[in-house]
Amino acid sequence: MKPVRWISTPREIDVFGTSHDGGYSHDAVVYALKDCGYRHIDTAKRYGCERYIAQAVKASGVPRQEVFLATKCWPTDYGATTTREAFSGSCQRLAVDYLDMYLLHWPEVSSGVKDKKKLLQETWRTLEVLLDEERVKAIGVSNFLERHLEIILEECSVTPHVNQCEFHPFNNPKMLRQFCADRNIQFEGYSPLAKGLALRDPGVVAIAEAHGRSPAQVLVRWSVQSNVPSIPKSTKLECVRANSQVYDFILTQEEMMTLNSMTQTLTCVDRNSMQMKIDNPLPDGYKLKLVKPPPEP
Ligand SMILES: NC(=O)c1ccc[n+]([C@@H]2O[C@H](COP(=O)([O-])OP(=O)(O)OC[C@H]3O[C@@H](n4cnc5c(N)ncnc54)[C@H](OP(=O)(O)O)[C@@H]3O)[C@@H](O)[C@H]2O)c1
Repeated sequence: MKPVRWISTPREIDVFGTSHDGGYSHDAVVYALKDCGYRHIDTAKRYGCERYIAQAVKASGVPRQEVFLATKCWPTDYGATTTREAFSGSCQRLAVDYLDMYLLHWPEVSSGVKDKKKLLQETWRTLEVLLDEERVKAIGVSNFLERHLEIILEECSVTPHVNQCEFHPFNNPKMLRQFCADRNIQFEGYSPLAKGLALRDPGVVAIAEAHGRSPAQVLVRWSVQSNVPSIPKSTKLECVRANSQVYDFILTQEEMMTLNSMTQTLTCVDRNSMQMKIDNPLPDGYKLKLVKPPPEP
């Protein structure tokens, strides 16, 4: 298996999120890259901000080869030809000739598809070919449960490098993480702050106070100490910086245990409504608000 570069050096596990939720800020992405040391940018065709990221990477002055760009293929683009087209479209919008990582965004496909398993396997095969052609350096999936991964593993010649899923103390899928670890699939965590909902939890707040840190820093640090690359997202410069300053304190074993035993009560991304969203697709970027647009050229 080709190694995934960013998991080898701890500092590079800082991933910067750019989803449509909560808006997009050009200044935040430039600041993350230029001033805070983030190198891995997570996005998706679905978020509608790939073209803005291209402008932010350029404005940051960080050379292309130092930036790790990860984007995702939406289920309505699954299929040999369509996935290739979607991949090329993402490259074009991101203004790059290769991607660092390409993920299948969701395991569900349109309900009209007769053989869903075949479609997923055929789509995965397309990613393997893109990897072989060196158009992408790592390939993976997102939101895949064990049963979805089994479909890919049954036929694949390259095991997914990564499975990106929701991950915070209130949604910690331990069995899925073990399933991934046993198969050498890197588990990557999104919504580490539970979209802000975990920040006021008294247990998290108490640990933050004990360290003189913010609850957000404790949550990102918990991911880091769990060996799960974490993707916090913020449009505010002070939060962008704070979320990356998690390497100069350590949560004790007891604190880790407290966070590991939180009740599993929070799901930010609802699986049940996803089929309806896939079947009745709104255009990519339909939710995107430009909090801080890039400057006019
Ligand atoms: N693969 C998938 O299906 C999937 C799904 C969801 C997300 N993701 C990825 O994961 C990234 C992050 O997820 P997310 O945006 O859902 O959730 P998140 O990072 O858990 O939370 C973001 C929210 O927390 C606030 N926030 C950020 N830093 C803060 C801080 N230090 N103090 C206080 N509030 C803070 C942000 O508000 P402000 O902007 O006002 O700071 C925003 O409202 C996304 O951008 C995307 O790249 C992937």
